Amino acid sequence: MAQLDRSVEVLISEQEIRRRVAELAEELKPCLRWADTVAVVALKGGMVFASDLLRALPPIGGVDFIQARSYGAGTSSSGSVELVTGPQLDLSGRSVLLIDDIADTGRTCSFLRDHIASLGARDLRLVTLLDKPSRRTHSVDLFRTGFVIPDRFVVGYGLDLDERYRNLPYIGALI
Ligand code: IMP
Ligand code: MG
Repeated sequence: MAQLDRSVEVLISEQEIRRRVAELAEELKPCLRWADTVAVVALKGGMVFASDLLRALPPIGGVDFIQARSYGAGTSSSGSVELVTGPQLDLSGRSVLLIDDIADTGRTCSFLRDHIASLGARDLRLVTLLDKPSRRTHSVDLFRTGFVIPDRFVVGYGLDLDERYRNLPYIGALI
């Protein structure tokens, strides 16, 4: 159980996130045929980012969800990834935008990517809100990312520590 009384230092403010998400949407707009694209949102961490990003994009062909588990309790990785829920839509031959919270070691993103590719996606692009490249052990082909961050454990805007802090409107670090 996480301590209940830890304070959070703001690393990326609500305003900075809003600005960058709008910018990302503009960068993405010309890159995909949106009416033929399915957004696959990686739960649970990707949900807040995805809900803001998707509303800034053109009308899309579909939205679905995928969930993998890689972290146990706390801030260290359990070392293995398993699929909890897969997408329900048929992705074969579809263009897919995979939306995740963070590429940390990269293990989860690569796992999700491989899984979606195995379902027959034709054109698969990965977008994350955050990129922590200093911790990478598995290479990930990030099409776009919101912010490159240093090696600190962050919470908020979808990201949790033992399920807490997900609904903070900013990205923070525990102090
Ligand atoms: P991976 O190490 O890239 O496989 O990251 C797996 C998952 O761990 C991510 O999708 C996040 O949900 C979570 N995670 C990684 N780094 C952080 C962090 O700094 N804060 C909160 N969750 C994190
Ligand atoms: Mg987590």
